[in-house]
Amino acid sequence: MSSSASVSAASTLDSLSQPSELPSETQNQELENLKRHVAEGLRRPQKTLSSMYFYDDEGSRLFQQIMALPEYYPTRTEFQLFTRHQSALATALRPTATQEPFFLLELGAGDGLKTKILLRHLLETNATFTYVPVDISEAALEGLAASLGEELPELRVEPIVADYSEALRLMAARPGRKVVLFLGSNIGNFLPPDRLTFLRNLAAPLSPNDRLLIGFDLQKNPRTIRAAYDDAQGVTAAFNLNLLARLNRELGADFDLAHWQHYTDYDPLAGAVRSYLVSTRTQAVHISALNQSFQFAAWETIHTENSYKFTAPQIKALAAEAGLSVTEFFTDEQNYFADVVLRPA
Ligand code: AVJ
Repeated sequence: MSSSASVSAASTLDSLSQPSELPSETQNQELENLKRHVAEGLRRPQKTLSSMYFYDDEGSRLFQQIMALPEYYPTRTEFQLFTRHQSALATALRPTATQEPFFLLELGAGDGLKTKILLRHLLETNATFTYVPVDISEAALEGLAASLGEELPELRVEPIVADYSEALRLMAARPGRKVVLFLGSNIGNFLPPDRLTFLRNLAAPLSPNDRLLIGFDLQKNPRTIRAAYDDAQGVTAAFNLNLLARLNRELGADFDLAHWQHYTDYDPLAGAVRSYLVSTRTQAVHISALNQSFQFAAWETIHTENSYKFTAPQIKALAAEAGLSVTEFFTDEQNYFADVVLRPA
């Protein structure tokens, strides 16, 4: 971790911000969670693994490459949206226009490229706040902290390496106004019931002056959507296949990547991109950590990701169901993407 970030991270969150020093108990717990998840997911009639496990350090690196692809419009679009609406966004996040200090929590911060636009604007308008980026990839957070230390040295940063619910639990216990960012349409990865539960949990501890800023990818030409998940260079394929490579590395599995393919499709009826890993032949895979082998028929699939796309009415209905109301609804010029400001209803 860079010097400036580790200095300002010296707080109650310090132990979590430096997983290299995590007790091995926590690392064991993470391994146990992965083992249980894989054992359960590969036992089902439709085999499945969660996209949550894409993001080891290699997966986060591949996702960085995805964000730069010509076909992958969401990141670029949200970046344009942030640039276009930065002052209105900043105003919407500081409803009282007071100097009351706040925590700007970002779930799944990644490289923070879009957020930097907002951070710079808030600093320029003399907002008093602490930026708390949360990510499950330590490497991604280290990169972010290092670049923030250089580009915005006056920013207070307290990174947390944790999953969303862990970070929310920690932050709920800290007094002070909260602004929570959940950008990039990460919300699209949840199945509808889980999405609602997640939003309700996010909304529950909020005070009237707290705000959420959530990025939603909007429904559009289905071919445009599909291409974003099936790029010509095969980076998304490598990203999906890395999940199997990860199981080889961490669980001693023997997936032969030469006999697996990436497959994805957009279903306008469900508003969902669904991605799969396809076994191109009959094969057995042994997973040492589970002491178990799994059979795959030729062309059997493992479902690995849902990426839901939304309409404006769906977003408003979802907010209402979660006990939130929409205060601002920002979109880009093409209406590809929405960043929505929410408050407790
Ligand atoms: C990080 C969840 C927003 O669903 O668009 C990109 C992940 N998967 N390409 C998305 C992803 C395949 C991405 N999110």
